Amino acid sequence: MKRVLLLGGTGFVGRHICEHLARLGWSMTVPTRRAANASAVQHLPRLTVLEADVHDEATLRQLLVGHDAVINLVAILHGDEAAFQRSHVELPEKLARACLTTGVKRLVHVSALGAEPAATDTAPSRYLRSKSRGEAALQQAAAQGLQLTVLRPSVIFGADDRFLNLFAALQRVFPVMPLAGAGARFQPVWVEDVARAMVHCLQDTRTIGLTYELGGPGVHTLKALVQLAGRAAGVPRPVIALPMAIGRLQALMMELTPGQPLMSRDNLDSMKVDNVLTGRVPGFAALGITPTGPAAVAPAYLGNDDPLLALRSRFRRR
Ligand SMILES: NC(=O)c1ccc[n+]([C@@H]2O[C@H](COP(=O)([O-])OP(=O)(O)OC[C@H]3O[C@@H](n4cnc5c(N)ncnc54)[C@H](OP(=O)(O)O)[C@@H]3O)[C@@H](O)[C@H]2O)c1
Repeated sequence: MKRVLLLGGTGFVGRHICEHLARLGWSMTVPTRRAANASAVQHLPRLTVLEADVHDEATLRQLLVGHDAVINLVAILHGDEAAFQRSHVELPEKLARACLTTGVKRLVHVSALGAEPAATDTAPSRYLRSKSRGEAALQQAAAQGLQLTVLRPSVIFGADDRFLNLFAALQRVFPVMPLAGAGARFQPVWVEDVARAMVHCLQDTRTIGLTYELGGPGVHTLKALVQLAGRAAGVPRPVIALPMAIGRLQALMMELTPGQPLMSRDNLDSMKVDNVLTGRVPGFAALGITPTGPAAVAPAYLGNDDPLLALRSRFRRR
C-alpha cells in the first residue's frame, strides 16, 4: 500500500502522520478547506494539497480514486449539535459510502477514547456522543465490506500540541491557574506514538476489523498535567481547582468570546468520565509499540516558548 488520502491531514495529528508516511516513501493527498492551513505539510515529498469540500460526497468519490487507503482525522472540539453531527457522523457516513462505491475499502478512522458505538446516547458530551455515532455508522459499513480500523486516543501531546503548550503559556502569563475539571483523569499519549500506530495499521492487514485504544504509560489528573506543564516551562503556578458550577460559568464566558474557546461546557462534560483505557479492546502492546509519557518529552518543547505564542494560536480562527 503506497497511496493514502488523509482527511484532516493538515491538523496536529495529521501533520505527524504525513511526516511518518513521507519517510516511508508513500504518496499522500491532503484535502483542506484552505490551502493556507496546509503550510506545515505542503513541503513534504510526494504530498499533494488540494482545496476541497470533503463534506460533498461526489468530491469524496473523486478524491478517493487512485488511492489504496484513506485516513479520517476530521474532527471539531466545539460547536452545536448540528456541527458535531456533520463532522463526526455524516462525514464518516459519506466517506464509508464513497469507499464502498469506489472500491477503496481500507479506512483507518481516528475516534476518541470514551467513544464507542454502544455510547451513542450515554456518553457525557456532544463530542463523545457524536464520535460514538460516527463509529457506529462505520461499523455498519464494515459489515458491508469496509476494511475498517478504529483508533481511540486519549488526549494527545507533542511539540506542536494545543494542550500542554496552552497550560504552559497560561502559566507564563498568570500568577495562579484556576482550573475546572481538575480531578479529571487522562492517559496522555504522545503524537509520535499515535502516528506509529497509524502507520502500523496501514501496513498490517490483521488490524482490519479491530478497534484500538491508545493511551500513554501513565494516568494523570488534569491538575497534575497542568502542574507538569508549569514545571516543564519553568513557571510552576499554584493550581486552584474550581467547583464544577463555577467552571461551567467560566466555560460559558469563554464560549462567548471570539475565536475558539479555551474550554467549553461540552469539554467539561467530556471530563465527567475518566479518559483512561478500558482494557476492553487492544492497545499499543498489540501493535508492538511501547508508548512514551509526557514527563519524558514535554520539558524539551515547553522550556523555551514565546510566552504568548500558544495563546495567540489558540485564539486564531482557522
Ligand atoms: N488532539 C487530541 O488531543 C485528540 C485526542 C483524542 C482524539 N483526537 C482525534 O484525533 C483526530 C485528529 O485530531 P487533531 O488534534 O489533529 O485535530 P486538529 O488539529 O483540530 O485538525 C483537525 C483537522 O480536521 C479538519 N477540519 C476541521 N474542521 C473541519 C470541517 N468543519 N470540515 C472539514 N475539515 C475540517 C482540519 O482541516 P483543514 O483546516 O485543513 O480544513 C484539520 O486538518 C480527530 O479525530 C480528533 O477527534 C485528538
